Amino acid sequence: MSQYTTVKQVKAKTIVDLQKMKQLGQKITSLTAYDATFSALIDQAGIDVLLVGDSLGMVVQGHSSTLPVSMQDMLYHTQIVSRGSQQAFIIADLPFMSNATPMQAAQNAALLIQQGGAQMVKLEGARIENIEFMVQQGIPVCAHLGLLPQSIYQLGKYAVQGKDVDAAEKILADALQVEQAGAQVLILECVPATLAQQIAEQLTIPVIGIGAGVSCDGQVLVVYDMLGISLGKIPRFTKNYMQQADSIFEAIQAYVQEVKESQFPLPEHSF
Ligand code: KIV
Repeated sequence: MSQYTTVKQVKAKTIVDLQKMKQLGQKITSLTAYDATFSALIDQAGIDVLLVGDSLGMVVQGHSSTLPVSMQDMLYHTQIVSRGSQQAFIIADLPFMSNATPMQAAQNAALLIQQGGAQMVKLEGARIENIEFMVQQGIPVCAHLGLLPQSIYQLGKYAVQGKDVDAAEKILADALQVEQAGAQVLILECVPATLAQQIAEQLTIPVIGIGAGVSCDGQVLVVYDMLGISLGKIPRFTKNYMQQADSIFEAIQAYVQEVKESQFPLPEHSF
């Protein structure tokens, strides 16, 4: 049998574990994964949450945005990630236009959960009706606010969100609303660290940041970025953990430890 077995033996983490971690002030660790081998490796390094992100459109499929990613792509990658993982909680992205209506959101979420093996689905934006409807159907939902890559053509560029008072107030109001609608996790992407801190303090659900400062309840990175294997410009909020590691496994372990000890992100990775 290979070093990284795919037979599920360990009890997987649940949303209750993530909630307890927030209550106890224990940081939640998360990385993206797109295939079974990385999933097994990341899982065995002790990560809490595996995110099957639609960032796969850029880092795996070679597109210039996440917009071309289909439900079929997400289902396939969620299946192979869940096959590789033993203990991590798995969140899968609803891709662009897969949740235009509450019914469409629920039907596609059901596919990712029933056929893909995800334990929660993530959708971009404060789509309150979609969140409420999915939650009514018993679907666990992760909201995603701040920089929304699926809206890149509306935004024009990948940039920090919530920098002025009005924009910050809107993100805070949206965060409170998605929690009220029943979302059980919030991912905050590229917002000022002070805003993220305020949101993490005001929400009872775990807030996981990427480019959102150290005060979030947890951190997520795109795995290719933190291994220094992405082509093009590496975002400021990430760190290349391969620079001080002898293997990918060691690099992921170092990331887990630094997040747990609030040593990542540093101010230089934050806005
Ligand atoms: O698709 C993705 O990888 C994401 C993270 C950047 C949060 O949504």
